[in-house]
Amino acid sequence: MSNVHSAVSALFDPIDLGPLHLKNRIVMAPMTRTFSPGNVPNDLVVAYYARRAENEVGLIITEGTCVNHKASNGYPRVPFIYGDAPLAGWKKVVDAVHAKGGKIAPQLWHVGAIRKENTGADPDPSVPGYSPSGLVRPGVENGVAMSKDDIAEVIEAFAQAAEDSKRIGFDAVEVHGAHGYLIDQFFWAGSNQRTDEYGGDLVGRTRFACDIVAAIRKRVGPDFPIIFRFSQWKQQDYNARLCNTPEELAAFLQPLVDAGVDIFHCSTRRFWEKEFEGSDLNLAGWTKKLTGKPVITVGSVGLNASFIDEDKRDMVDASGVATASIDQLGERMANGEFELVAVGRALLQDPEWVPKVKAGRYDELSDYNKDALKQLV
Ligand SMILES: Cc1cc2nc3c(=O)[nH]c(=O)nc-3n(C[C@H](O)[C@H](O)[C@H](O)COP(=O)(O)O)c2cc1C
Repeated sequence: MSNVHSAVSALFDPIDLGPLHLKNRIVMAPMTRTFSPGNVPNDLVVAYYARRAENEVGLIITEGTCVNHKASNGYPRVPFIYGDAPLAGWKKVVDAVHAKGGKIAPQLWHVGAIRKENTGADPDPSVPGYSPSGLVRPGVENGVAMSKDDIAEVIEAFAQAAEDSKRIGFDAVEVHGAHGYLIDQFFWAGSNQRTDEYGGDLVGRTRFACDIVAAIRKRVGPDFPIIFRFSQWKQQDYNARLCNTPEELAAFLQPLVDAGVDIFHCSTRRFWEKEFEGSDLNLAGWTKKLTGKPVITVGSVGLNASFIDEDKRDMVDASGVATASIDQLGERMANGEFELVAVGRALLQDPEWVPKVKAGRYDELSDYNKDALKQLV
């Protein structure tokens, strides 16, 4: 490995995670791009992902892609993962990524109460948001509180999406349980006030996610990797927390492990922040320590500002390059805190980010600017 910049050499060790062989530890973070007219990933989307695979990203996690439920989507032009045309589009993406030597997992998504009526989201904009208790955040109502039948329908939609993903050649699936969308609305006491088995204490509030994971596992078999993304923070409240102590985190994670999660994707906005007092471990580090499962860390890798501007309550406009954080990442991975790292904006800004980091060509990295969102590829 003499051609690898030594500070980051751990990022370039191959790894086997069950049947998933990855050539390095770098994951493309899931990023919604709204570039799929008619909810179908088109040739531009194919080229966008193929370009990251060609440039040595070990595992691509796609933008959130909506499962087959009338209220799963909250935005125009996001890709679906049901129906002939979207699945055919995704198959082209998968084949192109494989042709470039990459691996790829779709991020399976339901937005829940983030969906607002008549804001342009397909397939039928008049459908309201669906959520555990009809709340998008504490005290703020939006849409419909889900019945048991609604819950069963959504679980089935995730399971079918995973089965279809496997059939068309994806290498794994990721379940989007983070950032205040539907699954996280079940996790969060602030939006889940149910008194049935899908509500109650923290463990009760994991049941919906566990039922989804177990249903997926039944349909994809024992050897198909299920990645689960979760976060403490919510888009509704950046300071929200599901777990305040390692004990609570352990209680939250164990049911998900038992349901069949293989890899946890621990979403934080700054990977270097410690999760609990008394230890430098971040959320991914704690998750690995408590579950023994492989983990993905994420958050401002190579950049000096998080992707959210908390004052504006919107995406940040720009971030400078921060190469010291890349070296710190390499060290922490070498120390075994986490197995994989997801990189978001840096890979939007520069599709060649991975080979540049690998060779220590830090002077060629560029600052992130939101203009990178205006085009694909
Ligand atoms: C444009 C954009 C779209 C995003 N869309 C999603 C998404 O669909 N699903 C998701 O879980 N996270 C999404 N995120 C969050 C990223 O996956 C990632 O966690 C975040 O950008 C932090 O990584 P970074 O600092 O390397 O950009 C998005 C982020 C950006 C910048």
